[in-house]
Amino acid sequence: MSMFGIFLVLPVTNGFSMKEYCHKNDFSCEQPFFNQQGKREFGRCSSINVLRRMLRLGMIDCVRECLVTSQCTGINYRPDWQMCDVVGEIKHGDLEVEDGCSLAGVCRAYDCDIGEKCLFEDNKVRCEQVYCVNNPNADKAISDEKFGNHKNLGAGLKFRCKNGYKLQGHPYSFCLHSGRWDTQFRCILNGTGNDNLHTILSQRTYKMRVDLEYNDGNNAQAVYSSFNVGNESSGYKLSISGYSGTAGDGMTDISQNSLNGMNFSTADNNQDMSDVHDCADFKRSGWWHRDCTKGNLNGLYRPGEQGNDVMHWRTLNDTYSLSMTRMMIKPAYV
Ligand SMILES: *[C@@H]1O[C@H](CO)[C@@H](O)[C@H](O)[C@H]1NC(C)=O
Ligand SMILES: *[C@@H]1O[C@H](CO)[C@@H](O)[C@H](O)[C@H]1NC(C)=O
Ligand SMILES: *[C@@H]1O[C@H](CO)[C@@H](O)[C@H](O)[C@H]1NC(C)=O
Ligand SMILES: *[C@@H]1O[C@H](CO)[C@@H](O)[C@H](O)[C@H]1NC(C)=O
Repeated sequence: MSMFGIFLVLPVTNGFSMKEYCHKNDFSCEQPFFNQQGKREFGRCSSINVLRRMLRLGMIDCVRECLVTSQCTGINYRPDWQMCDVVGEIKHGDLEVEDGCSLAGVCRAYDCDIGEKCLFEDNKVRCEQVYCVNNPNADKAISDEKFGNHKNLGAGLKFRCKNGYKLQGHPYSFCLHSGRWDTQFRCILNGTGNDNLHTILSQRTYKMRVDLEYNDGNNAQAVYSSFNVGNESSGYKLSISGYSGTAGDGMTDISQNSLNGMNFSTADNNQDMSDVHDCADFKRSGWWHRDCTKGNLNGLYRPGEQGNDVMHWRTLNDTYSLSMTRMMIKPAYV
């Protein structure tokens, strides 16, 4: 397998032409003169900041794509696959800002935004979105892509969670045609957290705060002035009271199914009070279910979707999936 990366300055090659990006008879645009050879490193590719990845593209065409893509500073080229990566700035500070230094040909004086490629068609210049601007929000995850991530519009990248974390949702992040990432999973700590929780909470009186957020940025909090979890032989029984906050009381309001005094139910250990449901299964979450719960914080991560089994807080926005939740404890007197 041979591969190499070219950074910063691009090579002169016989037959290179930018013709379709140049005004008629602009010879220096068609046959640009590069007075410096790019640095070619055989056997090395940059796996970070790949802006676009294209298959079945010759190396010259790959160079050309770089010349018309915002932020491109070099390419990876893998001849065996004719695989072209258009790569962005590698290390911050490597490049200098210079007047008029931008894209090539007619695109040179044309400001395409980050995420765009410049096109010259029918004697007109235009910009087209071709890659996602940022990186996917994949906290505690690592890429599961053979050649590293790329950012093409429409790309679906696969991830797995770091050691000690387990994945909830689908292991993908998609670069949508709007230029934004849609990450369909989260990585959560793996382990029987309740034993640790019990050990910590049994030492003094704790209060607990829940932070909640949706896709659209809507966010709120629920604070409980007293929070305790029993040991294993007590069924990890929950003691919770003293709601205040902006999210509504999703855990202790009696009319809404107080979880105070409930044992912890899991798929293989039903300890809920429901005659109808096996709550841990129905709500797809281990939790202190009664019949079942208004605050389903361990449910499935499906931002934007609605369902009994997604992570939701019904007093805030019914059964719509939250995009972020956080439970935090601290000693009650602080
Ligand atoms: C999570 O922990 C359990 C029990 O220790 C283990 O069997 C399982 O393989 C772990 N899963 C992941 C994804 O690490
Ligand atoms: C578990 O908690 C109960 C109630 O607080 C207590 O009576 C019992 O001794 C505890 N069991 C263990 C093994 O710590
Ligand atoms: C909660 O767990 C305790 C200890 O295992 C058990 O005695 C009690 O019946 C359980 N409660 C429910 C509602 O399952
Ligand atoms: C609840 O979530 C849905 C879906 O995201 C959204 O359309 C709606 O505006 C939200 N309602 C409130 C009150 O935030």
